[in-house]
Formats: sequence, structure tokens, C-alpha cells
Amino acid sequence: MTKQLEKIYEGKAKILYLTDNPDQVIQHFKDDATAFNAQKRGTIADKGVMNNMLTAHLFEFLEKNGVKTHFVKKLNDRDMLVKKVSIVPVEVVVRNVLAGSLAKKLGKDEGSQLAHPVVEYYYKDDALGDPMIMPDHVLVFGWATQSELDTIRAAALRVNGLLLELFKNHGIRLVDFKLEFGRFKGEIILADEFSPDTSRLWDMESGEKMDKDRFRRDLGKVEESYREVVRRICGQ
Ligand code: TMP
Ligand code: ASP
Repeated sequence: MTKQLEKIYEGKAKILYLTDNPDQVIQHFKDDATAFNAQKRGTIADKGVMNNMLTAHLFEFLEKNGVKTHFVKKLNDRDMLVKKVSIVPVEVVVRNVLAGSLAKKLGKDEGSQLAHPVVEYYYKDDALGDPMIMPDHVLVFGWATQSELDTIRAAALRVNGLLLELFKNHGIRLVDFKLEFGRFKGEIILADEFSPDTSRLWDMESGEKMDKDRFRRDLGKVEESYREVVRRICGQ
């Protein structure tokens, strides 16, 4: 039995607790939802349960396909055991379809397919609103080395290839998503989560949004959409 010890971190959607194993922590998923750097707040019923289930399912799938992740095992509805990484303070966004902040920045409509996936980097700092950065900034400020950055970019693109296919097989268009990586025993591994909180998922037939944009943009049917993603991907 894993023993839950003190809280070491509480973010907007998750809490981390130490365990009796110094190499492992418990990642707990909350129902709290925020958007626009926490200016908009709310809760999505059972979101924590659904994001825990989805992240467990997808990280297991990625591991089976050669992507190293922090996932160890699912403990219960809202908790998973993960490796205790030191997080690289760079959020990695991969885009397949023009949407969100990129569409807005360029004054274009959402929805056009990009000719190839685009990888973007953001400095993980809430006080600054996670500003977009260039790879050179990552190096010059020492957030990661060139070799770590190469590993991160390759892993992000591999995750994209694997998940594009998986979501497509369940009638979902993987528009874009955000990943975080950490260091564990000298290695870069995928950390954090993969859920409708951190991705854009559009139904392939109707084009309906099935992700956190429903909350950000007050589109309704937020819980229902998350539940449908879980139903298709995890079969429950
Ligand atoms: P963006 O279009 O708003 O830049 O978002 C790109 C992707 O990153 C989208 O799938 C949502 C995800 N994302 C997060 O996970 N956390 C964030 O704080 C933001 C702004 C976006
Ligand atoms: N979760 C982020 C926040 O609170 C942003 C977002 O997902 O839109 O601010």
C-alpha cells in the first residue's frame, strides 16, 4: 500500500503528495477548472475522475509504444502514482489544426489543417501568464540543455503521431495539446497529464468541441463532452 504523506504542490487542477517512496509521488486530480490564467474559475463535475482515467489510459498506451512517462499506476478514482520528476519549466504545445491562440494571433478562423505539426514553447510562469518563448530562450536561461530540448521535441512529435492515430480511430480530431516534461534519474520523461483540459478534441463528424474550450467559451455540455471522450477512449 502506498502511503500518502504531505502535500508538496497544489496547482489549479491537481495536487501532488509525497509518499513513503522518495522516488514516487501521488498526483491527485481535482474538479476545479480555470481559464485565462485563472481569471475564470469554476468546477466541472467529476472532471478529476475523468482526467485521471484518461491520463492513466493514454500514458499506459504511450509507454507501450516506447514513450517514457512518469506514470506508475492508477491508485483510485482521482489518484495516480507517478515518478517524482523535477519539472522542466517549459510547456510544449503541438498543433495539427489552426485554433486557439495561434488563430487569434494571426486573425484567422479556426479549423484549417496545418501542413505539418507545429511545436511551440511557453515559459511555465503563472505570474507572467506563461509567455511564448523560442528554443534559444530555453537554452540561454538554462531551463533545458540542447540535448534535453532535442529529446523533448522528438518525444512531443512522437506523442502527436501516436495520439493522432488513436483519437482518429475513435472519431476524434486531435487539434492541439500541451505537454510537460520532467527529469527523473538523469532522463527526460513525459509528466503532468493528457486530458480535455490540456488539449483540443473535435468530433470528426459534427466538428463539435469535446474539450475545455466548452468551459472557456461557455458552450455548455462541458461534463457531457468530457464523459464522451472517456467513453470513446477508455470504453467506459
Ligand atoms: P492555445 O491555443 O490557447 O495556445 O492552447 C494550445 C493548447 O494548449 C490547447 O490544447 C490548450 C492547451 N493549454 C493548456 O493546456 N494550458 C494552458 O494554460 C493553455 C493556455 C493552453
Ligand atoms: N488553465 C489555464 C488557466 O487557468 C489556462 C487555460 O487552460 O485556458 O489559467
